[in-house]
Amino acid sequence: MENRQINEFMIGGIFASELAKKYQTPLYVMDENKIRNQCQMFHKSFCYPNIQTEVIYASKAFLTLAMCQLIKEEGLSLDVVSSGELYTAIKANFPVEKIYFHGNNKSKEELHMALKHQIGRLIIDNQNEFDLLTELISEDEQINVLLRINPGIEAHTHEYIKTTKNDSKFGVSIYDEDTINLIKKIDKHPSIHFKGFHSHIGSQILKEDAFFEHAKVVLAFAKKVKIATHVRVEEMNLGGGFGVKYTDSDQPFSYETFFPRFLDMIVNESRKLNVKTPKVMIEPGRAIVAEAGYTLYTISGVKETYGKKNYIFVDGSMADHMRTALYQATYHAVIANKHQETSKKTYTVAGKACESGDVIIREINLPKPNKDDILVVFSTGAYHYSMSSNYNRLLKPAVVFVSEKTSRLVVKRETYEDLIRNDL
Ligand code: LLP
Repeated sequence: MENRQINEFMIGGIFASELAKKYQTPLYVMDENKIRNQCQMFHKSFCYPNIQTEVIYASKAFLTLAMCQLIKEEGLSLDVVSSGELYTAIKANFPVEKIYFHGNNKSKEELHMALKHQIGRLIIDNQNEFDLLTELISEDEQINVLLRINPGIEAHTHEYIKTTKNDSKFGVSIYDEDTINLIKKIDKHPSIHFKGFHSHIGSQILKEDAFFEHAKVVLAFAKKVKIATHVRVEEMNLGGGFGVKYTDSDQPFSYETFFPRFLDMIVNESRKLNVKTPKVMIEPGRAIVAEAGYTLYTISGVKETYGKKNYIFVDGSMADHMRTALYQATYHAVIANKHQETSKKTYTVAGKACESGDVIIREINLPKPNKDDILVVFSTGAYHYSMSSNYNRLLKPAVVFVSEKTSRLVVKRETYEDLIRNDL
């Protein structure tokens, strides 16, 4: 047993090979304690004396009924971006007043749903959406809203650029004079209550400076709005984007030490601008779940091509792991029963989809795999299950939560019957 423990990779105190045997592969495994620790870390670090703060989990990263339940237990709020995400939250009895509803093109049905369930905040994207909302809202309905603004900052992984070009599909530009008019209109509406702004500058951001710049620009705009309209921005939701570690080349900064400095800056900047510090919200998605997730695959074999490329073939594909094909994302992985062995060769991990771009890891050094070994791909908790598809009529994997040496199925593996359920 002792040797086994040294040589075999475990998740939440359970051997990866046992999880694979019990639930089959491909399999998404989420380490529940890691998710809870991240929720608690954000909750604890994102606070500051005498100002209101709120941490909202961006559910697009990973959402199931069990995840809603966990987020509820950890006391975070929830960002949804579609009626499907909202439906899931409602079905999980998530407190509606803690739901933030985003999206650049909400349908009538979605707006109706938001009104009917009296969700906490609706984020209005643009003038058309406001017009639609005013048509739909009845006299006895009330809704609190934030306006999605485009602060002219777009952050990429390693740097940010500031642009006055309003070419993002999200929100209204802070440089557009019509934005001030829209704020005035929202503020005047008897049942639609303007609370403040929402903005989001990008994802997988690994440097602090873009976040600082973002907050400063939004605060300066709040001041401009106050002067031009007398409308006070009570709330400032600064979105998500906090980066995580996929491979050793990703070095996220420490959020525990960053947030107090970040909030301190916001308080000081507000003082300088002579505006009351608004309530500050953030919306991490990836940073809550990415590193808690692992995907298990069964290796079927190795293929050395005539061109000398060594492929490891696994029983999943880009249908359950989109990010490498879509974003050229990089990943770390181990072979479960050889994770302590030194790497011998460079391999490309490929799936079974009928497409050359179906690659899970472009290049990775691994010990020699054997047929039926289990490959564990790290940091797949965010934007994996939520972005999975049925390409090639492949079945979506099951999702398992592990905690304290126990595992529980939270999403069943799809069946062939599921595939044809809606076919007529
Ligand atoms: N809030 C808003 C309004 C957002 O649009 C997003 C992400 C988030 C919060 C959460 O961002 P996070 O903390 O997870 O970076 N599929 C891509 C990511 C798209 C993110 C879109 N919006 C990927 O796999 O990298």
